[in-house]
Amino acid sequence: MALHDRTILVTGGAGFIGTHTVVQLLSEGFTVWIIDNLDNSVLEAIERVRDLVGAELSRKLHFNLGDLRNKADLEKLFSQTKFDAVIHFAGLKAVGESVVNPRRYFDNNLIGTINLYEIMAKYNCKKMVFSSSATVYGQPEKIPCVEDFNLMAMNPYGRTKLFLEEIACDIQKAEPDWKIILLRYFNPVGAHESGKLGEDPKGIPNNLMPYIQQVAVGRLPELNVYGHDYPTRDGSAIRDYIHVMDLADGHIAALQKLFISEDIGCTAYNLGTGQGTSVLEMVAAFEKASGKKIPIKLCPRRAGDATAVYASTEKAAKELGWKAKYGIAEMCRDQWKWASNNPWGYHSKP
Ligand code: UD1
Repeated sequence: MALHDRTILVTGGAGFIGTHTVVQLLSEGFTVWIIDNLDNSVLEAIERVRDLVGAELSRKLHFNLGDLRNKADLEKLFSQTKFDAVIHFAGLKAVGESVVNPRRYFDNNLIGTINLYEIMAKYNCKKMVFSSSATVYGQPEKIPCVEDFNLMAMNPYGRTKLFLEEIACDIQKAEPDWKIILLRYFNPVGAHESGKLGEDPKGIPNNLMPYIQQVAVGRLPELNVYGHDYPTRDGSAIRDYIHVMDLADGHIAALQKLFISEDIGCTAYNLGTGQGTSVLEMVAAFEKASGKKIPIKLCPRRAGDATAVYASTEKAAKELGWKAKYGIAEMCRDQWKWASNNPWGYHSKP
C-alpha cells in the first residue's frame, strides 16, 4: 500500500512533539486523525499546523477533541475510520507533579493507554509507536545509554513510562500480530524552523530550554542552574538535547519500519543525538543564538537528577535508518525564532 493511502491516529497531536510530527506526517502524504483533550495544548497549534502545510494537505488532517480515559471517545473514532497505525503521544510528563499527584499520572498515562490498546485490538489496528522516555534509564551507571540496559523508574511519571513499556511487550508477546515500537526520547528542544510551532508549557516551565526561553523574552528574571558541583567539565549536568524536527522524523522512520518489517515484535529505540551538552553550554549557545544575556543563579542540585545522560544512537541508525541531523546551534536558533515571534507561546500577552 502506498504511503498516501495510510491513515494514522495521533494521540496528543496538539502538543509539542505531536504538532511537529503531524506536520511531517502530512508532508509525507499520510492522512492524520488527532485525538487530544487539550489538557496541556491549544487549538491554535492545530490552526498553525494547517497554515504551515497549506490548504491541500490540511484537508487530510482531522481533529477530534477527546480523552483516552473515555472509551466512548475512542469507539467513536475507530468505528468511523480504519487506522493503519497509532502514534501515541498523549500523556502527562511533569515529574514534580507526578510525585504530588501520582493518581493523576496513573489515570492519564496508564488507564488512557490501556483503553487505547483495547479499542485498537477490537478494531484490529495492531501497529503502535509509543512515546517513551530516557527517564526509563533512571540514573544510568554507564553512558551512553544502550537500549538493553536494565531499566529503572525514579518517580511516578517515570514509573508510568516503564510500566507502559512492559505492558506493550506483554501484549505483543501474548498476541504476536501486534507490532510495537517504543521510542525513548532524550531531551526534545527547538521548534519548527518557520517559528510558527514550538513548546508552550502551562505555568512556570519545569524543563531547561522552555525556562531559558522565558528568561530570554523577559517573562522570567533569571535561570536557576541546578547543580554546579557535578563531576563534569564545567560542574553542571549533561544531557542529550535533540531537535524536535529530528524527533518528528524519527517517528516517520519508526512508522515505515512497522509497515515493512515482519518481525519487529515490541522493540525500543533511543531517539537522541549521542552528544552530551552541559546546562552552562546550553545557556551559552542560547545566548549566542538570541543575542540576549541569560542571567543565571547557581543553585543546589535538583533531587533525582543524574549527572550525565546521553544516548547510544547505533540501534536507531542501523535498524530505523534514522540519525539526528541538527546540532545545538540549530536547536537554539529555531527555538529563538519561535520565542521571539511568540513570546507568550500560542497566547497573546495576558
Ligand atoms: C526531565 C525529567 C524526565 C522527563 C523529561 C521530559 C526530571 C528529573 N526528569 O528530564 O523524567 O522525561 O524532563 O520532560 O525531571 N535544569 C536547570 N534549571 C532549570 C531546569 C533544568 O538547571 O530551571 C537542569 C536540570 O537540573 C538538568 C537539565 O537542566 O540537569 C535538564 O533538565 P530538564 O530539561 O528538566 O530535563 P531532564 O531533567 O533531563
